[in-house]
Order: sequence, then C-alpha cells, then structure tokens
Amino acid sequence: MSFSIDRYKEESRKLDTTGVEWHKVRDYPLSKGDLFFLHYAMDVENHVPLYLSHLLVTRACMNPVITTFLSLWAYEELWHGENLSRFLVEYGIQLDSDTRIRNLRSDMGLSNSISILSTMAASWALDDFAALYLSIGACNELSTATAYGALARNCQHPVLVDLLGRIQKDERRHFAFYFNSAKDWMTDSPRAQWVARIGMKFFWQVVGQGLKTQEEVDAISLYLFDDEEGKRDVETIDEKMGRLPGLSGIRLMTRAREDARRRNAQDPAWGWRLIDNEEWAKKSVAGGTRLYKGQLVGTAGFAESEELA
Ligand SMILES: [Fe+2]
Ligand SMILES: [Fe+2]
Repeated sequence: MSFSIDRYKEESRKLDTTGVEWHKVRDYPLSKGDLFFLHYAMDVENHVPLYLSHLLVTRACMNPVITTFLSLWAYEELWHGENLSRFLVEYGIQLDSDTRIRNLRSDMGLSNSISILSTMAASWALDDFAALYLSIGACNELSTATAYGALARNCQHPVLVDLLGRIQKDERRHFAFYFNSAKDWMTDSPRAQWVARIGMKFFWQVVGQGLKTQEEVDAISLYLFDDEEGKRDVETIDEKMGRLPGLSGIRLMTRAREDARRRNAQDPAWGWRLIDNEEWAKKSVAGGTRLYKGQLVGTAGFAESEELA
C-alpha cells in the first residue's frame, strides 16, 4: 500500500504527551547505558535541521510531495528532541539544550559544509539520486524506531517506555513514507536500483555517525543490540530493507553490529568506557567544550526582533 501524503498532512502534529507521568520520572532509576543512549538520541533528533539542510540542496527540493513530507517530518522530529531533553531534565540531568546543540554543531566544523556540497553535487549529477536518499531515510527511520524499541525493552522505567512508544509511532510513519517512496522510485528502474545499492554500500552510515564518533556509534550498538534479541532486531531491519527492489540480501545493519563487536573483541573497553565515564554529559552545560561563535543569536536577540513584527 502506498503512503498517503494527504493523510499525513492532515494527521501530522507535535508529539502528543498527554498523560505522560513526568512527575514520576525520578521514581525509577536508569542505567548509565540508558542515559548514554538518551543523550545520543536527543542529539540526533536535534540534528535534523542540519540533515534537512543537506536534503534541500538536492533534487529533492523539486518534488512537492517530498518537500511537504520534509516540512512536517522536521517539525515532528523537533518534538522528539524536545521531549527527550525534557525527560532528561525531569530525571535531574543538568542540561542546557541550546548550548549543547550549538556545541555539537560547532564541533562538526567544516565537515558539515563539505558534506552539503558533495551531496548537492551528487544529486544534480545523478537522475536517480532520490532512490538513494529515500532508501537511506527508510533505513535510518527503521533503525531509529528499532533502537527506541530496544531501549524500551532494556530499561526498567515505565514513564520512559511510555514516551518511547509514542515517539516510535512517528518513526514508523516516517519509515513508511521513505520506504514506499523508495519502492515507487525503484520499481522497474534498474538504474535507480543500481544507484541505491551502490550508494547504500558506500555512503550509508549508522544513524548519528558523523555527528558522533565511531566509538560512540559502537557503544550504542553494544548496549542495545549485543544480545540475541538485538541480533534479531538488526537482522529484521536488513530483511525489511532487502524487500526494496534491487536491495535484496543487503546486510548493512548486521555488518555494523558485527564491526562494533569485532572492535570490542580487540579492545574490551571499546564503547563501554564511554558509557562508564559519563563524558557524554559534558556538552550539556553552559561553558561546555566549545561554544558557537555566533552565540549572539540567542533568546535576547529574538525578543528585540519581536518589536519589528
Ligand atoms: Fe525522531
Ligand atoms: Fe523519524
């Protein structure tokens, strides 16, 4: 069944948190691994505007269905980040979201601009570039939904399980758009299938890679997917992605999990030391690692500009 953009337009809204028992967040303990993942997920959700900036310089901007989806999608993702931030604050984490976001974006430096330029060039050079980024989008949304499911399974926190379930519903809908759009694009088009298959092989990255280091990415894999259920989770992602025309037998997530386990086998501290030493919280507070040069653009500036309205 195809995805209905009209229905999505009608139904898209900010995450409904009615009834989430925020006042009980501190009643249940979270492990360091849970907290590590929540910071990682919050950062990735908050990174969506930069990811969007990559897509809008590609041929995607020519397609009104895709730009409609992206407009709504970015708004929904914003509320995932907001609610994960709120959850951490309710739990007692000292968190200055604006500073953290600025620090993370600033740390990406020039690589972000280079990445935008190369994505733009590739998209205008390849007619079937859409097949690639729609496939990447499908894989990313499905792996995000799966990771939230794995955390809900591992943690012992009913309020978090409730919140994750609500976010997961959005992620599954995002997956449905990307998957069905990719399928439409690639059906009966050997060239689009080839672009997607080759592109996925060389350019696909685990969600968060680029923004996060390889060891941070591996730490998530080791924490969420190291057991038998986790193995089944990543195999299910690969199996679903393999249903796209031309992507049969693809094993990207399984391979990423195996690579993380291999690096951990060579160095048993790999990944786990990040979870243990709580370095991941450092960028949360004012005066963190590195501040964005344009920090003048803050809430004070916004208040002044309101007078112009
Ligand atoms: Fe999200
Ligand atoms: Fe999503």
